[in-house]
Amino acid sequence: MSHPLEQLRDDALLEIESAGDEQEVEAARVKYLGRSGSISAWGEQMKTLAKEEKPIVGKLLNEVRNAVTAAIDLRAQQFRSQKETGALGKIDISLPGATGPIGYSGYSGYSGHLPLERGSLHPLTQMLERSIQIFRRMGFALADGPDIEDEWHCFDALNTPPEHPARNEQDTFYLPDGQLLRTHTSTVQIRTMQSAPPPIRVISPGAAYRRDELDATHSPQFHQIEGLYVDENVSIADLKGALEFFMRELFGAGTEVEFRPHYFPFTEPSLEVYVKSKALKSGEQWIEVAGSGVVHPAVFEQVNKARGDKAYDPEKWSGYAFGLGMDRLAMILFDIPDIRLFAQNDLRFLKQFA
Ligand code: PHE
Repeated sequence: MSHPLEQLRDDALLEIESAGDEQEVEAARVKYLGRSGSISAWGEQMKTLAKEEKPIVGKLLNEVRNAVTAAIDLRAQQFRSQKETGALGKIDISLPGATGPIGYSGYSGYSGHLPLERGSLHPLTQMLERSIQIFRRMGFALADGPDIEDEWHCFDALNTPPEHPARNEQDTFYLPDGQLLRTHTSTVQIRTMQSAPPPIRVISPGAAYRRDELDATHSPQFHQIEGLYVDENVSIADLKGALEFFMRELFGAGTEVEFRPHYFPFTEPSLEVYVKSKALKSGEQWIEVAGSGVVHPAVFEQVNKARGDKAYDPEKWSGYAFGLGMDRLAMILFDIPDIRLFAQNDLRFLKQFA
């Protein structure tokens, strides 16, 4: 003969199984497991049992309570997921989106359904990501520095004397407090060397600012990737090799690279970098894409002075640096005729690079 608890369990399971909706499952939960439910009542009854009966009935009571609890949970879950599938079933997920971005409902004349457009990366960002990938393969890490700088990081530390034309108010955006918008990303060379001893191998992408008239090829805000490599026995051959590799990865194996002597206060010798590639729409003409050179010993000395040590001993360490014109490179790579297009946010332009 089965124990009344077993009978109770079988009744409960049957009732749960045949429940027609969530409410009926809940009713069964109250009936059996609720505070005054029949299974709970058995817990009370336990107290009245003989000592030797207690463990046996206690064990059975636990089993019954577990079985009924599990059955109720399962049945409730079944009803919940049925409800969800039912709701989703009414939605055609292949239909185009019917809601505009938040805030659009207040737009004058707008009455409802603007499709959500799919975005894409800005051509300058695409150019940046490609460049970072190439330099990563050469072992360069990423470094960063602020757009608002002091004169020391932008000029003095880079061996640029006070009378240098770049320091002129006609060329540089000075802020009222004497700080300035960096005129090149070379500031990050200094910041990187201040914060870590050699060897160093970093690139640093970012914006730079000059008081240029805005035209098809000049913009007061433009973008550069700075590069700095400091180690023992770094030569100009290393510089040329690295930049040639970069240009060919970017523009194709057949790209010609030419280095022309130039002057920068913070490198000696200094070279301007030109590229020419048949693959490019701009065709058979040399285009300047970067400034570069071997780090001037005076730069190391300035860094040592700021650090208060001799970490960058110019007798021991040498290095090269370069500053790539990102806007120029992107204009060549994507055949973009006007630098102003980068900042105008015209979707007809941006969509061409999606
Ligand atoms: N900072 C220079 C410029 O903006 C480029 C450059 C970087 C040159 C590093 C030499 C070394 O024109």
